[in-house]
This record gives sequence, structure tokens and C-alpha cells, in this order.
Amino acid sequence: MVNTRKILITAALPYANGPIHLGHMVEYLQADFWARFQRMRGHECYYFCADDTHGTPIMVRARKENITPEQIIETSFREHQRDFTDFGVKFDHFSSTNSVKNRELCEEIYLHMKEGGHCEVRPIRQAYCEHDKMFLPDRFIQGCCPSCGSEDQYGDSCDICGATYSPTDLQSPHCTLCGNAPTEKESDHVFFKLNHFKDFLKEWVPSHNSKEVTKKLNEWLEEDLRDWDISRDAPYFGFEIPGLKDKYFYVWVDAPMGYVSTTQEWCEKNSRDFREFWGEDSIAEVYHFIGKDIIYFHSLFWPAMLKASKIRRPSGVYAHGFLTVNGTKMSKSKGTFIMARTYLDHLDPSYLRYYYGCKLTSDLNDIDLNLEDFAQRVNSDLVGKFINIGSRSAKILQTHFENTLAKSMDSAGEKLLQSAVNKQESIANLFENREFSKALVEIRDIADDVNKYFDELAPWKLVKEDKETTHKCLTSALSLFRVLGIYLQPIIPEISRKMAELFNDDEYFWSDLEKSILGKKLNDFSHLLQRLDAKKLMTIVEASRPSEPEKQPSKKEENQYMDIKDFQKVDLRVGEVLSAEAVAESDKLLKLQVSLGNGDERTVFSGIKKQFQPEQLIGQKVLVVANLKPRKMKFGTSEGMILMAGDDGDLNLITAPSAKAGQKVE
Ligand code: MSP
Ligand code: ZN
Repeated sequence: MVNTRKILITAALPYANGPIHLGHMVEYLQADFWARFQRMRGHECYYFCADDTHGTPIMVRARKENITPEQIIETSFREHQRDFTDFGVKFDHFSSTNSVKNRELCEEIYLHMKEGGHCEVRPIRQAYCEHDKMFLPDRFIQGCCPSCGSEDQYGDSCDICGATYSPTDLQSPHCTLCGNAPTEKESDHVFFKLNHFKDFLKEWVPSHNSKEVTKKLNEWLEEDLRDWDISRDAPYFGFEIPGLKDKYFYVWVDAPMGYVSTTQEWCEKNSRDFREFWGEDSIAEVYHFIGKDIIYFHSLFWPAMLKASKIRRPSGVYAHGFLTVNGTKMSKSKGTFIMARTYLDHLDPSYLRYYYGCKLTSDLNDIDLNLEDFAQRVNSDLVGKFINIGSRSAKILQTHFENTLAKSMDSAGEKLLQSAVNKQESIANLFENREFSKALVEIRDIADDVNKYFDELAPWKLVKEDKETTHKCLTSALSLFRVLGIYLQPIIPEISRKMAELFNDDEYFWSDLEKSILGKKLNDFSHLLQRLDAKKLMTIVEASRPSEPEKQPSKKEENQYMDIKDFQKVDLRVGEVLSAEAVAESDKLLKLQVSLGNGDERTVFSGIKKQFQPEQLIGQKVLVVANLKPRKMKFGTSEGMILMAGDDGDLNLITAPSAKAGQKVE
């Protein structure tokens, strides 16, 4: 056995603001596979997590639902843990960022950061809603994208054209809570001088992240790092910053601190010293499993914060890609935004654990859950290849050999077993490097060989002619079945546990691979896993589809559309400009005489003096709104409106040169 390592594993802390979905599960399962593997290898390994409870969204939701944020996070806390437990995710401790320990730690590191001269307080101007009496984070402002004009885009980026900008750039912005236009207001904020840590990060990043991630981060490290705003104004659900009135730590300060405070809580319960794990001279290994969307927080901000506060940095940050379903982003309307609970209501968690295992690698590529492939893989591999070996052999052993294995194997079987056991280092290496998909290929290869061997000997027939050979064959097949159970334990521990029951074994360690079970009396084979019923997948998809329209349109959205009837009310016609003259007293207006045919002549005042010479317009066939209510102006009455394309700077007449005056425009 290799030297015993002390390993601390974390998965990113899920937001308490919503339920766990199958996207999240990619991470919690991946880290669970790894933790279980490390424990099997005999290492001291702890897997910690917590709910990420703070921030504006929870505060706003609590206000809306007229409950306290504490009530919301309490419910999530229970639900999240139940989801994780039911998926077989085995945390050594699951806590919350809204804890006493976490508050103390945040205050402590802030003090270090401040005393080290890494914090600066200065005022900034931000969007503010006078109605809701709060500063508006980017996600709470919507408006038209300044780049492509798409409506209802958030304050930070446009979903349609991908442009990024600041909320003040949005056109006709409104507060998503009340619909009013935000104002701007100034307030003091605390900034963390990230650039003080640039040299440290340049060295730290490449040695603690994959090449792929390092490449991304280096783009940032080439330039000076901007100060990071670590404070938020009241009202906010979070920890108040000591010494500052109505200022709170930004949630991304106290969230990663949750890794440390969760460890601290566990240590207290288990009479351990948390500096064993987080002290600057700790020899423990610390790994963060995260999604690719939060790399900057974990590989730039977090190590810098730790460096500033004399806490050790992680040994590695393991980032993964995102889950897609049937090749596209999870979608509520397609029913592919599947909650963990919805899945668990219908299907065995081992299916998904196995499937994710088949898909997971150590890189940042997205992981696709293709529902058809999912059913097929589970049925053909998990049930058809692995479990079948056990059920077929065990039944014959029970009927003909009193459930007792032979004292020796046949040579073909012995060879197979030896080669399966010999794969242990290569399989362990793949697990160690988080190449779960490749590890499962190796393990599946073993199963394929066993099935081939079994089918060739056909013990169900052979038992009638040659009992001794049959007995040896069953003994080989079941010994190999046990080896498969050991290799699969990190991925599908529940099934491995049932397999172990057959052999009267405890939960497996890697070293159990070397143990022989010749001559052993087995327990009766109990059913391990049912085939996946593909119909249930449809049920899940149906259950994940919103029953009502996805989103109730806001007042603003309702006003945005008009009925076809409204449009038909507009009498749009072709008009010929008979004459045009500048209105001397106005620097904007031209006065036009427009013929709408059949002797219908109108006087129209149009604000286009800056863009057009009157002569340019005479004789043009233009589009006129003919039934606009006449409007009395200082210089006369305007009896229609001429349509133009563009804005002040670039105004174009819309003309219909070959149409007749008076023709309707439809
Ligand atoms: N609360 C933060 C993390 C704070 S860590 C100090 C957060 N929470 S989250 O609930 O949005 O996501 C939790 C983890 O799940 C993140 O690592 C995130 O990348 C991951 N995933 C969320 N949706 C995912 C997919 N659709 N696919 C794969 N992983 C996903 O971020
Ligand atoms: Zn508002």
C-alpha cells in the first residue's frame, strides 16, 4: 500500500436559493467518486460541503414571500442534504455558510487583508431603485442591449448577441422587481487589491490548475488585475463588515470561506485541530472540485485571499465542464432541466452515477446526458454486462453446488482473474487522475472477457455433463464478479455493497482485490438492479416541463405587444410631397403639404429640418400615418406623420417611388 495521505475534498457550495438539479450532480458525484476511491485506497480522506446561503437573491425572495431568509435556507438545507444522501453522495460534513464559525473566519481574514494594506475604501456610483430602496445588482436590471437592441437583457450581458457591458449602458433600463427606471447613487465600497498578488498568482496558477485552465487564467494575468469589490450595501443577507456601517461582505467572500469553516466545525466535533488541514504548514492535500463557471473565484480571488490571511492554499483546483441534455443546454421548456428530486422519484440513482462515470474526464469539456444513450448504456452495460455475470453464475451455484465455491479454478478462469487483478494499478491511476470514463472502459473490458469466457463454457448446459469443470468455471466467474464489484465501488457503491453481501464481505478496500475466495460459502443471490425502463425517462421529462407558461409576462412585457387589431387601426398610406418649406421660428421643423390622392391634402409638420433640405423632399412618395389625431402646434396643425428609418444622426426617408398617392400600406 502506498503511504497514507491526508486528503480534504470539497465540492462547490450549492446556492441555497434553489433546488439541486442534474447539472449540479455532475460535480457532487464526480467528487464523491474520487473521495470514495481515496478512502478505498486506505487514505484518510474527508469530503466537505455546505450550502451557500448569502446574497441579494435570497434577500429579495424572502421579502417577496414575506418570510425570513433564514427560513428559506433552512428548507434548502434539508432538501439539499436529502437529495445528496439519496444519490449516495457521502459527505463527512455538510454545513452552511450562515454559521458562527464562518462569520468569525470572514472577520478574521478581512482583518488580515486590511492590515496587510490590501484593502481600499472608495465611493462608487451604482444603479439604485428608489422604490425598492436598494442598489441593483446587474441581474436585477433589464433593458435594451446597447449593442444589438434586443429587449429585456440583463445589466451585465446580452443573451442574444453576447455583448458585455455595464448596467448604465442599457437603454431604457428598469428594475426587474418593480419595473421602475433605476437612478444612480453613490456609496463607499471596500476593494481588495488583487494586483498585489499578481506575482504570487503567476507562479501559483500553473502548478495548481490544469494546462487548459492555466491558459484561460493567463489571459488575465498578462494584464494588471483589477481591484475586486468585496462589499455590498444594506439591505443584504450576509455578514456585516466589522467597523463599517451597513456594509456586508460580498457573498463570494464568505462562500469559499465556508470550505474552511466547515472543516473547522467537523474538527471540533471530532476533536481535531483544523490547522492540520488549513494551517500554512499543513501537510494535508486540499482539492476543490468546481464547475468551469467559477474558476476565477477559485483560482484567482481565493488563493489571493488565503495568501493575504496566512491560510494555506489548495493543492489543486479540479474544474469540470457543464451538463447538457440531448446535446443542448438544459431547458425548462424542453423538460430537460431535471431536478435531482424528480429523477429520484422515478429512477435508481445508480443508473446516473454509472452514466456520469462513463462520461467524466479530467478536462473542461461539457458532459452530455443523452437520454436514449443513457437507457441503452445502463441496460447493456450495467445490467447486461456486469450484473448478469453474478446472477447467472450464482443461480447455478446455488442450485447445484450448495452455494459453495470450488477450491480451485480452471486455467482460463485463473488467467482472467489474474489479468483483472493486474489491472489494479492502471485503473487506480485513471481514478487518481479523474479519468473516470477511461477507468470504466478498462473495467468494462474485464466484464466483456468474463462474459465471453462464460458463454463459451456454457455452464448452464455443462452442469449436466461435467460438474467439476462447471464448478470451477462458476468459481472463476464469481471471483471475477467480485473484482468488478471492487473496481466499481467508487462509482456505484450501493450495487457493490449488494455484491459484497453475496460474498459476505464488508465495504471494499482496494487491497481486497488480492484476497482469494476459493472454497467460500456464499449467501443467496439477491436481486441487484432492474433494467432501466425508458418510459420512465419520458415521465421525468414530462414532469420537468413547466405546467404553466414558463414565465408570467411582466406589465412591461404585456405592453410590449399589440394585437393585430391594434395594428389594423393604423391607416398607413402613400403620400406625395407637394411642397416643403422650413419653419423659420423652429430649428427642427419642416412644413410639408402632402397629397393622399383623391384630393385629400394634408399639412404635416415634421422634425427633420436638420437632416433634409426642403427641395430634397418635393415629389417624393413617402409613407404617412393618415389617421393620427391632428395635433395643434405653435405654427399650425399637423394632420399626419411621415415615417422615417433611423435616428437623428442617420435619418432616411422611407419611400415607395412607384406607388400612387393614397395607396394603402399593408
Ligand atoms: N454558490 C456557488 C459556489 C460557491 S463555492 C465557494 C455556485 N453555486 S451553484 O449552485 O450555482 O453551483 C454549484 C456547482 O455546481 C458549481 O461548481 C457549478 O459549476 C456546478 N454546476 C451548476 N450547474 C451545472 C451544470 N449544468 N453542469 C455542471 N455543473 C454545474 O456556483
Ligand atoms: Zn425596483
